[in-house]
Amino acid sequence: MRILSFLPLYPGLVTAAHSPRQPSYGNHPNPRVPTIWLAGDSTEAPKGGGNGTQGWGQYLQYSFLPSVALVNNSAIAGRSARSFTREGRFDTIASNVKPGDWVVIEFGHNDGGTPPVNATVGDKGRADCPGAGNETCTTVYNNATEIVQTFPTYLKNATRKFLDKRAKVVLSSLTPNNPWEFGNYSYIPNIFTYYTWLAASELGGPSKGVYFVPHGQYAAQAMKNLGKETVDANYPMDHTHTAPYLADVVAQAFVLGVKCGTSGLQDLVVNATSRLQGAVLGTCLMVNETLPI
Ligand SMILES: *[C@@H]1O[C@H](CO)[C@@H](O)[C@H](O)[C@H]1NC(C)=O
Ligand SMILES: *[C@@H]1O[C@H](CO)[C@@H](O)[C@H](O)[C@H]1NC(C)=O
Ligand SMILES: *[C@@H]1O[C@H](CO)[C@@H](O)[C@H](O)[C@H]1NC(C)=O
Ligand SMILES: *[C@@H]1O[C@H](CO)[C@@H](O)[C@H](O)[C@H]1NC(C)=O
Ligand SMILES: *[C@@H]1O[C@H](CO)[C@@H](O)[C@H](O)[C@H]1NC(C)=O
Ligand SMILES: *[C@@H]1O[C@H](CO)[C@@H](O)[C@H](O)[C@H]1NC(C)=O
Ligand SMILES: *[C@@H]1O[C@H](CO)[C@@H](O)[C@H](O)[C@H]1NC(C)=O
Ligand SMILES: *[C@@H]1O[C@H](CO)[C@@H](O)[C@H](O)[C@H]1NC(C)=O
Ligand SMILES: *[C@@H]1O[C@H](CO)[C@@H](O)[C@H](O)[C@H]1NC(C)=O
Repeated sequence: MRILSFLPLYPGLVTAAHSPRQPSYGNHPNPRVPTIWLAGDSTEAPKGGGNGTQGWGQYLQYSFLPSVALVNNSAIAGRSARSFTREGRFDTIASNVKPGDWVVIEFGHNDGGTPPVNATVGDKGRADCPGAGNETCTTVYNNATEIVQTFPTYLKNATRKFLDKRAKVVLSSLTPNNPWEFGNYSYIPNIFTYYTWLAASELGGPSKGVYFVPHGQYAAQAMKNLGKETVDANYPMDHTHTAPYLADVVAQAFVLGVKCGTSGLQDLVVNATSRLQGAVLGTCLMVNETLPI
């Protein structure tokens, strides 16, 4: 079921652009085996947010045979699209990316707020400039004047760099906070979900090698199916960081989102869509059910 391919609600993202799968078997590591690079925050990073939590990126490797694709989890706790850019972390990935690789970019948890404008102190270096377009905010961070961009600008800027290196890019929406925390299940995608979709759309979507995965929606769907007791128990520290079991589910939810979409990445996944869909992960979402806001 690939409903996402046929519904027109995401202009620019509906055209399938399958890349031929050219897996390379042989001595390992094989330079022709694509790497899937992960850029993100603590919800994705090794050791998550600490205290025994884990990031979902650590489980993604199990959905790919090592002879078909390798995963490099370059997510790091505490980062926003802005600080990941400023610290040169996209540049580090870009300098290692080879043609045929994939880069998954997922931010939003640390991007909220507003940089203090024209202040010389008080900026924490993470908040993006509010807005969906080319707005900028001038602030001072670490005694250096910084022209802060919007969230979509950071995503698009990094994505272009990877496209230039002939990699393909998945812009993935951020994971939910515990959707059961207020008693009943409730998940409302926030503005960064929309901005992530917007960036993919503005870059030209699948026809340009840029794909949107509504990861937040797929993870929320799984958490709805798991129920309050299990989900609460797997947010041991706060409403953001997952215990290892739930991190694994969140990784699988990403994989289902990939399988239900149109990128060539889905062809590298070891499991069939029918094996992923079920009582925990649910089914492919229709585009009208994944509208960001
Ligand atoms: C996390 O662990 C540290 C010690 O490792 C502790 O000081 C802190 O209170 C813990 N935080 C939470 C939210 O559990
Ligand atoms: C991921 O890539 C970075 C940059 O090349 C490298 O420093 C790091 O060791 C890699 N991590 C793994 C787990 O391979
Ligand atoms: C910030 O400084 C610039 C240049 O001095 C000025 O044009 C602008 O109005 C200031 N913005 C605010 C919000 O104070
Ligand atoms: C910002 O975007 C607006 C509208 O999309 C455009 O008119 C303007 O030229 C852009 N400014 C810059 C500096 O790119
Ligand atoms: C910023 O400048 C102040 C005053 O010169 C200095 O005390 C402080 O250490 C500097 N901070 C950083 C992060 O460089
Ligand atoms: C654009 O991204 C590159 C890395 O991909 C970075 O070096 C550069 O500073 C970014 N530009 C802006 C305006 O953020
Ligand atoms: C949860 O939903 C039930 C059934 O709709 C309702 O009776 C109950 O008040 C709700 N609880 C909360 C905390 O919203
Ligand atoms: C895919 O299959 C592998 C190997 O059978 C398994 O370890 C992994 O958990 C599966 N992944 C998902 C997302 O179901
Ligand atoms: C999405 O569209 C399908 C088919 O048109 C419809 O059955 C379903 O109710 C819609 N879902 C939402 C959330 O609007």
